[in-house]
Amino acid sequence: MVNKFAYGTFPSTRQRRNRMTDWSRRMVAETRLTAHDLILPVFVIDGTNQRTPIPSMPGVERQSVDVLVETAKHAEKLGIPALALFPYIDASLKTKDAREAYNPDNVVCRATKAIKDACPNIGVITDVALDPFNSDGQDGIVVDGQILNDETTEALVRQALVQAQAGCDVVAPSDMMDGRIKAIRKVLETESLKNVQIMAYSAKYASSFYGPFRDAIGSASALGKADKKTYQLDPANSDEAMREVAYDLDEGADSVIVKPGLPYLDVLYRVRQEFGVPVFAYQVSGEYAMLRAAGQNGWLDYIGCAIETLSCFKRAGASGVLTYSAIEVAEALEG
Ligand code: PBG
Repeated sequence: MVNKFAYGTFPSTRQRRNRMTDWSRRMVAETRLTAHDLILPVFVIDGTNQRTPIPSMPGVERQSVDVLVETAKHAEKLGIPALALFPYIDASLKTKDAREAYNPDNVVCRATKAIKDACPNIGVITDVALDPFNSDGQDGIVVDGQILNDETTEALVRQALVQAQAGCDVVAPSDMMDGRIKAIRKVLETESLKNVQIMAYSAKYASSFYGPFRDAIGSASALGKADKKTYQLDPANSDEAMREVAYDLDEGADSVIVKPGLPYLDVLYRVRQEFGVPVFAYQVSGEYAMLRAAGQNGWLDYIGCAIETLSCFKRAGASGVLTYSAIEVAEALEG
């Protein structure tokens, strides 16, 4: 058998020669991480001049709209292409039908308008899912312990519509209901919002790595001991993830997300190889918390690990990564 890697033998071939200097390593690098690869997820709350820390995500804060606009301006300057908005909703506004999700004046819509007014060069991605607004803490409407698919989809369509009407650039359904991409695409077409992108959380796994996020949006206590296994994917599967991607693309998604990040690099790689579409990895809250906590203890070099992991997503084929480290990494890459 011919070994296609047999270019020569030692000493005519010395693999280390290309690695000897910084300029040479840069010259032969196969992928490159830049600020343009990073999407910043942010948590928005009501009020003015508010920043509230999230204990399980040190360094990340919930921000009121006015503060968030400043964050968006900073991210825009750094070359970060987009923000992903997630709301923290006061418990008094949470209901079983999650109707605050499609209130055109909810905090997500207000934040979207404010950021689009202040920052023309940054994309706004809004989350389409009911969990921040739902007194059950689930992504769908719960009746008699069941998460109803089609009734939830109707609410998601209304939610995506108010977000698009508020001026978001991308709607990102993270709910994993069947058929929601088709339904959302249809309403965007009929309501003259044809250029609004859909970034579908297609391969979203039922993961224990989402814990800190549920603290951040305040859904953890509502959810209690319940899980999301009837709609999110089983970590054991990757063929199933390919089917989800195929359906979402067929229904009108412009790009897809694989989530969580590092433990699912094989899934990300498969999506890139099999579909060749824009695919984003989500380095989720638990992944961030692990690196950050170890960094705070002096056990790991936080920024070094962040840059390394983000580079690995690029190597595996990601078009970009949603990461809570986006600003710090973009600053570090600027040097
Ligand atoms: C739910 C949603 C989740 C995340 C984003 N949207 C978690 C969940 O399914 O409970 C997780 C993001 C993170 O952990 O950083 N719509």
